[in-house]
Amino acid sequence: MDASKLTIENVAKKFGEVIAVDRVNLSVKPGEFMALLGPSGCGKTTLLRLIAGLEKLDEGSIRLGNQVIDDMSPKDRNVAMVFQEFALYPHMTVFNNMKLPLKNRGYSKDKINEKIHWATKLMDIEDLLDRIPAQLSGGQKQRAALGRAIVREPKIFLLDEPLANLDAKLRAKMRVELKKLQRKLQVTTVFVTHDQVEAISMGDRIAVMKSGKIKQTGSSKDLYYHPSDKFVAGFIGSPSMNFFEGELLEKGEKIIIDTGDFTFPLSAEIAGIVIKKMHGSKLILGIRPENIHVNVSKKGLIVAEIEGVEPLGFETFLHLKFDNNLAVARTSAKTEFSVGKKINISFYEDAIHLFDGKTEEALGG
Ligand SMILES: Nc1ncnc2c1ncn2[C@@H]1O[C@H](COP(=O)(O)OP(=O)(O)OP(=O)(O)O)[C@@H](O)[C@H]1O
Ligand SMILES: [Mg+2]
Repeated sequence: MDASKLTIENVAKKFGEVIAVDRVNLSVKPGEFMALLGPSGCGKTTLLRLIAGLEKLDEGSIRLGNQVIDDMSPKDRNVAMVFQEFALYPHMTVFNNMKLPLKNRGYSKDKINEKIHWATKLMDIEDLLDRIPAQLSGGQKQRAALGRAIVREPKIFLLDEPLANLDAKLRAKMRVELKKLQRKLQVTTVFVTHDQVEAISMGDRIAVMKSGKIKQTGSSKDLYYHPSDKFVAGFIGSPSMNFFEGELLEKGEKIIIDTGDFTFPLSAEIAGIVIKKMHGSKLILGIRPENIHVNVSKKGLIVAEIEGVEPLGFETFLHLKFDNNLAVARTSAKTEFSVGKKINISFYEDAIHLFDGKTEEALGG
């Protein structure tokens, strides 16, 4: 088996009463870029530290290839971690920071220089080699920390929000660079972020975490089109999916969802699937902003008031107000909209997502 395959099985970690990581299962293929996405405090850093060996597991097991690494010291794991608050040695120059892990591995002086040259060129920090961390900006520190991680050519990269402190432009550039670098080096990578755009644009697959648990793992398309629950649905996509609480009702021959703001008829096929999976009569209807169609002139069944207009150049976000709910629609910038006006909206059944009112799990269909 490939020694750079990472397998995490039933891993749990508590800090006193706080369950930081709650029986997590995750498998990262050799060379894969796995983005670990979730809100602050959901356990991302703790999971990385468990993989790196900086925290001890309470339960479960972690393997690299076939080897169980649970009791291995961090330095024997051949795992490189770039921390959220970059851990460069403060009294050492960038050059010496990068040299240390190589020296510890017994590389020759020439080889060390060659590797550092290669890594600093990739990271665009060639001019900073003689500076100590206190003389660097946040972004430069981050790139130096990344450089130090890559010179070691580890089996696994663990990157904890490595782009968080960069300005928007450098961040966008580094996203592309880092991804390119990872492809080239083919290093199995776990990349932590709370930014869904970053996770989607960089991850081969994405694991979405909440309260210590992994809620769903999949490609960006899986998560976008088939979210397993309301949390994942709301977390992936910007602006977020709109949600309307509703009730499933029989109206004559038809099955409809009544949200209080509008009713939405379901086809017999979808109604059949939904009814089988539901725990009660309450459900949540989700619709992404780009799937709300605004019909300026036509008369529609769903009426909303324009509460705000957010023009972004190539498109416009419309903030809509219903009796009970708010929603955002993404529309073409070509049409002029004015605040306070009523408009008709519509959406297709194949674009809606339905979630159980109690468990918030996807009802499929
Ligand atoms: N050493 C510690 N002692 C006590 N509690 C801790 C410790 N480290 C983490 N925690 C708690 O464990 C939970 C998970 O923390 P963790 O740092 O893993 O979150 P995170 O997802 O990385 O968040 P962020 O996005 O803010 O960095 C939090 O509730 C945190 O307060
Ligand atoms: Mg963290």
